[in-house]
Amino acid sequence: MKLEKNTADKPIGIFDSGVGGLTVLKAIHALLPNESTIYLGDTARVPYGIRSPETVTKYSLENSSFLIEKGIKLLIIACNTASAISLEVIKQTFDVPALGVIDSGARAAVSATRNGRIGVIGTETTIKSGAYRRAIQSFDDSAVVFERPCPLFVPLVEEGWLDIDVTQLVAARYLAGLKQSMIDTLVLGCTHYPLLKNVIRAVMGDGVTLIDSAIEKSLNIRQLLSDSDILKKDSIGTFRKYYVTDSPERFQKIGKRFLEDPIEDITKIEVTSLETAVAV
Ligand code: DGL
Repeated sequence: MKLEKNTADKPIGIFDSGVGGLTVLKAIHALLPNESTIYLGDTARVPYGIRSPETVTKYSLENSSFLIEKGIKLLIIACNTASAISLEVIKQTFDVPALGVIDSGARAAVSATRNGRIGVIGTETTIKSGAYRRAIQSFDDSAVVFERPCPLFVPLVEEGWLDIDVTQLVAARYLAGLKQSMIDTLVLGCTHYPLLKNVIRAVMGDGVTLIDSAIEKSLNIRQLLSDSDILKKDSIGTFRKYYVTDSPERFQKIGKRFLEDPIEDITKIEVTSLETAVAV
């Protein structure tokens, strides 16, 4: 991938359907503290995970266009659903380099597995797209992939029910089939699922390696910026800006759980301003 030279001081743009992508932002902040970031959470139109590919693509193009107009050096699609459905069309539509989260998680799963049996959990739209299966098998065509949508995990996490009886029951029900499939690696293919690691680990057992796409992605970003010599060198002028399409108060309250850091400098924008940002 070609990144423009001399853009070190420009921000990285990240979008997600809502608060979930803050797990990716958190990993970016931890690994790349000097980088400026602009995060767009499309909280008015969340969830993406139950929407059709056409709708997810439309929203993703609009979000990308908004961030690109802010002068970013790199676009990160933090949402697994948006990455699964629309990374290719985003790459074809815009010049700014764009990365999704699917390939990093898939690559990490292939290097982690010992028995070649890999599970993937995600939203309905992500799982239906088969994007993780294709990515995993592009790295290792002998890998056997078992997929399972877990739609109730997203509202449970947003409710803050991370490790209570209801969540344990739901996890046990969703993951029973995967446990029987004798997988040794499980990709947490949704922004929200890393927050349920304890519950998922309790069901799957310690023998199953959990892959967190957010962490894998930030490692790739650091490598990419460093290879292109556009890592921001110091913290002078570093900023962290947030845009949301619905209630900043709710974003701040729920988002803290994901970012584990205070969220300041939030601006609310109208969905209609995104819709006019790109003609699709
Ligand atoms: N961000 C979404 C994902 O990672 C989960 C929430 C949603 O459905 O929009 O797939």
